Amino acid sequence: MKSYLIIFTLALVLFGFFFVEHHLDTPGRTAADRETLMSDGSGIAARIAAVGQIKTAQAQSSTTTQVASTTEAAVDGQKVYQSACIACHGAGVAGAPMVGNAATWTDRIAAGNDSLYANAINGLVGSSGVMPAKGGNPTLSDAEVKAAVDHMVSQSQ
Ligand code: HEC
Repeated sequence: MKSYLIIFTLALVLFGFFFVEHHLDTPGRTAADRETLMSDGSGIAARIAAVGQIKTAQAQSSTTTQVASTTEAAVDGQKVYQSACIACHGAGVAGAPMVGNAATWTDRIAAGNDSLYANAINGLVGSSGVMPAKGGNPTLSDAEVKAAVDHMVSQSQ
């Protein structure tokens, strides 16, 4: 009877040892996971995207709407303009059409939004100067550049 008790106690101690040993390393593993998440360059939309496919059509469409509205709210055309475009377009530096000066924008606006977006995103060597792609900020997303163009156009009509 006594030997059973000893074996049982030993087993318990052994289990306790492995249990603690296994979890000692948990904070390290969490940090490693976080590192992977932060360093892979994925965008916010990719990080908050649903992991699995949601089957019901209703649930899926509400998820899509949420993601879309989050993305939209994150893009503030005026902010992008002030940080990446105002250097040239604020005062008409280097032949840049000046925001607020309708005369320099009439023909450009007449060409249509798609043309303005494309030239702002890809850059343009025009008759008045050189517009660098994305204003020289390759980290800007297309959506951010478009929002900045919308802001500039709205201030220049
Ligand atoms: C280094 C100066 C510079 C910066 C920074 C700059 N631009 Fe320009 N941009 C220009 C010049 C110069 C032109 C005129 C090119 C031409 O038509 O000769 C221009 C033209 C444009 C046009 C008119 C394109 C067309 O189709 O006529 C848009 C739209 C535009 N820029 C948007 C932007 C946006 C948005 C940003 C910021 C993300 C930005 N620019 C930053 C210099 C700049």
